Amino acid sequence: MTRPTILLTGANGQVGFELQRTLALHGDVVACDRGKLDLGDRNALAGTVRSIRPQVIVNAAAYTAVDRAESEIVQAEAINTIAPAILAEEAKRIDAVLIHFSTDYVFDGASALPYDELALTRPLNVYGRTKRDGESAIAAIGGANLIFRTSWVYGLRGSNFLLTMLRLAAEREELRVVADQSGVPNWSRDLAETIATLVGQGVPALVDRAGLYHLSASGATNWYDFARAIIGDVERPRVVPITTVEYPTPARRPAYGVLASGKFERTFGIELPEWRDALARCLAARVEAQKTV
Ligand SMILES: NC(=O)c1ccc[n+]([C@@H]2O[C@H](COP(=O)([O-])OP(=O)(O)OC[C@H]3O[C@@H](n4cnc5c(N)ncnc54)[C@H](OP(=O)(O)O)[C@@H]3O)[C@@H](O)[C@H]2O)c1
Repeated sequence: MTRPTILLTGANGQVGFELQRTLALHGDVVACDRGKLDLGDRNALAGTVRSIRPQVIVNAAAYTAVDRAESEIVQAEAINTIAPAILAEEAKRIDAVLIHFSTDYVFDGASALPYDELALTRPLNVYGRTKRDGESAIAAIGGANLIFRTSWVYGLRGSNFLLTMLRLAAEREELRVVADQSGVPNWSRDLAETIATLVGQGVPALVDRAGLYHLSASGATNWYDFARAIIGDVERPRVVPITTVEYPTPARRPAYGVLASGKFERTFGIELPEWRDALARCLAARVEAQKTV
């Protein structure tokens, strides 16, 4: 099997950074951060794909500032809707596979059962709408595309709930955390390792299994319980459950965002571990990383 050339966008993001390492095991990675490739620059996007001519494009870039997106609609659309469409068009021109990520925020959270890929989308905020429109644009263009919806991504870099809770726990006596939004946390490294495993199965296998998939750890939690799991069994800070109403934000968020990964598991024969297992491994990796600093 020849090693594919893989174009990776968003190489500095939570998932993108992890993908740089995991994808390198299976192909020659051209890793582009925002400085190297701005997804808001349509000409640069097309030009980069045409000059590199990758067999696989992994789009880990996204406009992920959920609250800011409410006032930066044009920017969110450019990165989450238009750029993925251009990547899909360019991928189709050169018969490349496009791997793209989306979110549980495409749903309104009114369900009481995990969402599968056939569930109706109804985003509550600009971020979710622009991501949903990105999915639709990719599907309309056709070609060999794999879209993975995931949820509540955290990791050891960037800005995420885990790092915010660890920082606040060191600063404050009390943390007030929303307890009425349920979902599943996903460690960026687990996502990156899973995607790399799929790429390692070869480009023809990716082409055969093109489609939309939910990719998530198993189990479910809420932000309050997730915070308690991060901080551990300590007396200080005190973690206090609050409601969404008590923590108003510019963007509305779904009350429930659990994704059913059954289609992914049946198709690829891979199951992500339970979210608590992933969190324990991530916290252990953090301790290891601190030892080497
Ligand atoms: N984070 C979550 O909780 C979550 C949940 C569900 C799904 N997802 C999806 O999972 C995927 C990966 O998310 P993530 O958590 O890794 O996001 P992230 O950490 O915010 O990373 C996104 C990356 O995109 C880059 N980017 C933004 N605008 C760009 C532009 N104009 N040109 C080039 N790069 C640009 C950012 O660059 P800078 O570093 O320069 O800002 C950042 O490195 C995304 O598709 C996201 O929608 C995320």
